[in-house]
Amino acid sequence: MKKHYLILLIVLMPFSLFSEIVQKHHMVVSEHWLASSVGDAILRRGGNAIDAAVAIGYALAVVNPCCGNIGGGGFMTIHLATGKNIVINFREKAPLNAQQTMFIDKPRNAVLNGYLAVAVPGTVLGLDTALKKYGTLPRHVVMQPAIDLAANGFIVSQYLAKQLRSMTQSFQLKANVASIFLNHHRPFQAGDRLRQRELAHTLKQIAALGPHVFYKGEIARAIVNASKRGGGILSLSDFASYHIEILSPLYCTYHRYTIISAPPPSSGGVTLCEILNVLENFSLATLSVDSPERIRILVTALGIAFADRNAKLGDPDFVNNPLQKLLSKTYAASISKKIKKQFSLPVSKYTSTSEQFDTTHFSVVDSMGNAVALTYTLNGFFGAQVIAGHTGFFLNNELDDFALIPGAQNKFGLVQGNANSIQPGKRPLSSMTPTIVLKDNKVILILGSSGGPRIISAVLLTLLHVLDDRMNIQEAVDKERFHYQCLPNIIFIEPHALSSLAIKKLNAAGFRLKTQAPWGAVDAIYKPSANGGWHGANDKRRPDGAAIGA
Ligand code: DON
Repeated sequence: MKKHYLILLIVLMPFSLFSEIVQKHHMVVSEHWLASSVGDAILRRGGNAIDAAVAIGYALAVVNPCCGNIGGGGFMTIHLATGKNIVINFREKAPLNAQQTMFIDKPRNAVLNGYLAVAVPGTVLGLDTALKKYGTLPRHVVMQPAIDLAANGFIVSQYLAKQLRSMTQSFQLKANVASIFLNHHRPFQAGDRLRQRELAHTLKQIAALGPHVFYKGEIARAIVNASKRGGGILSLSDFASYHIEILSPLYCTYHRYTIISAPPPSSGGVTLCEILNVLENFSLATLSVDSPERIRILVTALGIAFADRNAKLGDPDFVNNPLQKLLSKTYAASISKKIKKQFSLPVSKYTSTSEQFDTTHFSVVDSMGNAVALTYTLNGFFGAQVIAGHTGFFLNNELDDFALIPGAQNKFGLVQGNANSIQPGKRPLSSMTPTIVLKDNKVILILGSSGGPRIISAVLLTLLHVLDDRMNIQEAVDKERFHYQCLPNIIFIEPHALSSLAIKKLNAAGFRLKTQAPWGAVDAIYKPSANGGWHGANDKRRPDGAAIGA
């Protein structure tokens, strides 16, 4: 990394890591300050928000290895300065050899760890297509910072050291993983340098040869070979036939704002919009943030929208999603009537959910008026926890996002329906919600989160805190959250998220509550006034993140 660049980072760091940052021209917020600074540098040299997003996407694959990735997939919501809005769907696909019953007699672990859990990755084709269609810089330019970070290494933070330490046992089981992510068989310590030479080689190949090498060349072959040896079902045709989609976004309005988000096969936009449509029938802004009545309204709206999501949504290439109904203001009005009558949801038999959450979201806006919200994931923490041969990157375990066994919960406690059953070439339903909000046709808010289904509530709450509660963006992002997804019938709360009065009243209304460690990470950018600057906020839950701009 160049010297003047390092000095710039050192000057910015103390301000950017912990509080809202205000800048006039452009802003980048991601879960790792090195990735944010890569995006900032691309914008400073005249690249646009799409160039910066692609550079950040590759950089996070190096510096945030649990979640940033080239072995996973996601959704990229783009607002172009011309006024056009697009979503790039680079969600993974089930292998062509997948079968609806393939996990029925398998231990739960088979869909969490190892090659059987892996879906065909979309990130490389997604990022490359975004760059080619909407970026301005050549591939090798936007990928070089990631290649440098992988080849030269970077200093492991306390946060990353803790993440890597927690994986020691898993890493020890695979020599090719241990040789990268353990330091001579021991966990990396904060302050150590983590070099990823194999990943640098892979990234160099992609920079030089493009997605072809990933989907039809050496990398596809390495993954398929490792999958065959490891009991997986991936084939070369899965890679050769993989494609991304350029979609019209999911739109709705909330009061005078236009919401632009990810459509199916993400449930994120639909569920967010269904809830916002319902909430429009209540004057939320007149209820204090912690009032029991407001929490009850939000929780019930979340529960009903999640019940719809879980039962009715799936990959639109395979099933008909009833979007017209779910997004109609009339349907929302009928739900609001039920909520006004103190309606609450029936108690279910489901009682538990996993508590580990890892994906990554970042937001970018440039000085020309282009904006990007991008969420991508390996699904689980370090995905399926396998690396194929010498490719140097983790593969996803995204097949767990399908409804694999009727009535059974997935890793996130979701119980989903037939619309989301596994089929060859189908994309699993996602909750990723990369969202851009417009007011008077101008971008005012860019946000998204990690957290599995909790992404939807995290985005919803942040959006309401900014637009209705008039919090500044940092307060909104940091505010303790709650989450409800109908099944299990438990309201999950971060410590101090709800007042004791609210807890008492919700208990009295028949809801069960459970406190959990903080989850998700909203990285957001907000423009409070048309002539003011961009306010960037990194979520305090991810201490390595940063908002950097100019
Ligand atoms: O697409 C989805 O909804 C999940 N695979 C996202 C997983 C996730 O957010 C995990 N961590 N925070």
